[in-house]
Amino acid sequence: MVSGQILFTWNNPVDKPLIPNIPCTTYNIIFSFLFLYCFEVLPTEGTKMSDLLVNLYPWTKSLHVISVISWMAGLFYMPRLFVYHVERVSAAGPETVEIFQTMERKLLRFIMNPAMVATWIFGLALVFTPGIVDWGAFWPYTKGAAIIAMTWFHHWCGYRRKDFLAGKNTRTGRDFRLMNEVPTVLMIVIVVSVIARPF
Ligand code: HEM
Repeated sequence: MVSGQILFTWNNPVDKPLIPNIPCTTYNIIFSFLFLYCFEVLPTEGTKMSDLLVNLYPWTKSLHVISVISWMAGLFYMPRLFVYHVERVSAAGPETVEIFQTMERKLLRFIMNPAMVATWIFGLALVFTPGIVDWGAFWPYTKGAAIIAMTWFHHWCGYRRKDFLAGKNTRTGRDFRLMNEVPTVLMIVIVVSVIARPF
């Protein structure tokens, strides 16, 4: 029933939420993946959670990287939208302002929020997978700090969107251009921490 609902809304061209206020498309993709691979791996009796996580490791990591890419796309694009919103659109009239507000709302609700949630879910699943994180090394802490900063930046974008919506934005295009560099720097710290691991 639930899986049917999920697949139905996934194929449904009208973006009707499965659960009110939660956009369906991205969640449905995640839930459907979880369904498909959980059914293959879960059944044997006595399977421990840790064994399950080890079996799922390649899938969890793939889904983690897929959600990271989607999240980063939104985090890079949103401040650019704000730059255009301040510098070009506000002077062009109310209709154009409305178009930009819609673009910002949809980017946040349908891409950034679900992608952030998915990144956290699959990232934490990797953390709980036995033998993956060496807590004696330094990289989990640099990566952790940068992830928290990235999550802060996500919420900062959300608050700036609300400012635009209320007509209360006080920041300039230059401010948003500067803030645009924040996710770039954090991404470099995270990827170097988790892959090159020089620390
Ligand atoms: C949101 C919370 C996050 C948590 C809890 C988390 C945790 C983890 C863990 C434990 C791994 C497994 C490392 C391994 O297999 O050895 C991993 C892999 C990875 N993470 Fe994250 N991560 C998070 C967010 C991010 C973000 C924001 C990025 C990029 C900007 C990122 C990029 C990656 C990459 C590229 C890998 C694969 C590394 C490899 O090939 O081994 N993660 N993550």
